[in-house]
Amino acid sequence: MNILGLESIVFGVEDMVTASRFWEDFGLTKASEGPDRIVFETQEKGTIVIRPKDADDLPAAPVEGSTAHEYIWGLKTQTEVDAIGAELATDRDVRTDNDGTVHSVDDAGYAIGFTVSKRIAVTVDAPDINIPGIAGRVDKRAKIYKKAEPVHLSHMVLLTPNLEENRDFYVNRLGFVVTDCYPGRGYFFRAAGSSEHHNLFLLKGGDDKGFHHIAFELRDIHELFGGGTYMGEKGWTTHLGPGRHPISSCYFWYFKNPCGGAAEYDFDSDHVTDDWTPKDWESTPASFAEWTLAEGILSYETIQTGKV
Ligand SMILES: [Fe+2]
Repeated sequence: MNILGLESIVFGVEDMVTASRFWEDFGLTKASEGPDRIVFETQEKGTIVIRPKDADDLPAAPVEGSTAHEYIWGLKTQTEVDAIGAELATDRDVRTDNDGTVHSVDDAGYAIGFTVSKRIAVTVDAPDINIPGIAGRVDKRAKIYKKAEPVHLSHMVLLTPNLEENRDFYVNRLGFVVTDCYPGRGYFFRAAGSSEHHNLFLLKGGDDKGFHHIAFELRDIHELFGGGTYMGEKGWTTHLGPGRHPISSCYFWYFKNPCGGAAEYDFDSDHVTDDWTPKDWESTPASFAEWTLAEGILSYETIQTGKV
């Protein structure tokens, strides 16, 4: 069960045009487009798939309106994919596509899938920064970003009323590793084949179920600011940010997503190994964000011209 990470999320949406415009502005590349399916990809070729909400073959989602309908995890080989399918078939329905993708549900009823990963290795130039005593960038101007180009589909967050049961499912059945915890409130998990702090966060929100947000890794902090201000200028609404999480250490900026929930830009998340020590965190505003702005920021040009 060496799951590598998130491969794809399938959204069912009420407005394909608005959804498509959102992901283009967010910085994903449109890989294909048809009347009932548009596929966007990160630089690594992780994908966001948008489908009409009333498409017959969409798996069920726990909430009405535009939302995520299926979460696909990537593995290295078809043998590994098939092994997960065989194990899940011991107590639930499993269906295998013509392309070998296995579809089933988790213990909270979310539609999940497993496929051979099509992600490609992307070589990103290391951020060349200057710190006291170490000149990382010499005779060279730093990059200014007009727009983000997300590299990597990093994690998602789901609400679950049965937190402990669903934790057991992801740990015992799919091999996920708990990396941090809000006792009684939420678990952060990395997939066994990933070194990211988390690929999945399960959050107990009372009796609520549903998709909360999806996050994308960027190259550097300048891209987070450049991409975020571009989104604001295109009319998209900040959910929260920019800011910084103590848990996973990353900078964040969340935007309200017309496909449901939010979409997050991330930079500088922790990478961990089996030597990482999980911590029980108190569920407080301070553990969620060291600091944050509530409603985004504007570029200086926008402030000067008054055009928002
Ligand atoms: Fe996140």
